[in-house]
Amino acid sequence: MENFSLNSNLYFGAGAIDALAAFNGKRVAIVADPIIGKNGIGDSAAGLMGCGKNAIFDRIEPDPSLEQVADCCRFVEELRAEIIVAIGGGSAIDTAKAVVLVLCGKGKKLYFAAVPTTAGTGSEVTDCTVVSDHAAGRKVLISDPRMVPDMAVLDYTLTKTVPKAVTAFTGMDVITHALEAYVANKANSITDAYAEKSLRLAFGNLYEAYLHGDSDTARENMMMASYLAGLAFTKAGLGICHSIAHAIGAAFNIPHGEANAILLPHVVAFNSGLDVPFGADKSPSAAKYAEAARIVGIPVGGTRLTVQYLVRALEDLNNKMSIPRTLMQLGVSAADMKERRAGIIDAALKDSCTAANPVQPDAGQIGKILDRVMG
Ligand SMILES: NC(=O)c1ccc[n+]([C@@H]2O[C@H](COP(=O)([O-])OP(=O)(O)OC[C@H]3O[C@@H](n4cnc5c(N)ncnc54)[C@H](O)[C@@H]3O)[C@@H](O)[C@H]2O)c1
Ligand SMILES: [Fe+2]
Repeated sequence: MENFSLNSNLYFGAGAIDALAAFNGKRVAIVADPIIGKNGIGDSAAGLMGCGKNAIFDRIEPDPSLEQVADCCRFVEELRAEIIVAIGGGSAIDTAKAVVLVLCGKGKKLYFAAVPTTAGTGSEVTDCTVVSDHAAGRKVLISDPRMVPDMAVLDYTLTKTVPKAVTAFTGMDVITHALEAYVANKANSITDAYAEKSLRLAFGNLYEAYLHGDSDTARENMMMASYLAGLAFTKAGLGICHSIAHAIGAAFNIPHGEANAILLPHVVAFNSGLDVPFGADKSPSAAKYAEAARIVGIPVGGTRLTVQYLVRALEDLNNKMSIPRTLMQLGVSAADMKERRAGIIDAALKDSCTAANPVQPDAGQIGKILDRVMG
């Protein structure tokens, strides 16, 4: 028996941030990206909720650490907040999620609202958080339904200031979520519907959002694509693109979306058996990838050829947005990789996203993908 429930209240469209006014008069803690603290969005959100600057925690670093979560927990407890409002990219929302979980463990249930300012992680609707354990040199994905935000506010106007490179990385994170969810072990017709619409919107709008960051249409469609991909993967699961991205992100300090973007063409090729003679013709995921290619308007032929076109389309999109093809181009040397290789493979195999991948890889296969992304 399967169950599909959505307990999240959604507000969307230009000006949707005004929905925060409902919290006026309540004890609110705002967990915000430092940019949001500086560019006036934090202040106007605080104004809407009738709270002052002292209610804003903006000591957020990209890829939140255990220490940052502990620091933020203290802040929220000292404020005796009953509502936590996260405003920022995945790093701010994930920090707030981890805080919500820790406080739940102490018997304190906070109402939780998430306001994304990047179109990428879909964290505003997922049940997971990614926290970096710097001492152990790894990123850990924790899933728990208690972390799904009670309320999500998708106000695409907040994403108009996102710099070009971040637009590219976060947008490729969206495409990775949708494609991984589409072929994941737990995919079903409901998650496929979300993934398909997300892919259509992301392939149709990401490059435009990258070129023209102030385009209402492109930003709005990317924000929806991000949300829909989040819905798809929180129910269907992800795959080894994320497992390896978590491991190389922690090892070499590579932004999450950029790591996914570099890995994704290689993971699609691996999952669909492109390396193996006639592999693609027998692979159910290859048929699914070919369907995804058709949906986003890539020319179609036989299954194998269509998946090859999809791989090329992903490489072209990366290239157009100046995302490098290899880790070498990011300054990772052969010696760095040699030193970290075994640890990365081990972390990727143990990552909770691996179980959802349509093909269960062995260490040698992960190693081969690493060799390819090294260049
Ligand atoms: N919980 C999930 O479901 C999930 C899914 C995927 C990734 N993640 C995690 O999310 C994190 C990445 O999140 P992200 O990709 O959104 O990046 P991010 O939150 O780290 O932000 C990236 C950069 O963009 C800046 N920024 C954010 N909003 C901006 C705005 N409106 N204008 C200008 N600059 C802005 C930030 O200051 C930062 O420098 C990683 O830790 C990743 O592992 C979580
Ligand atoms: Fe992601």
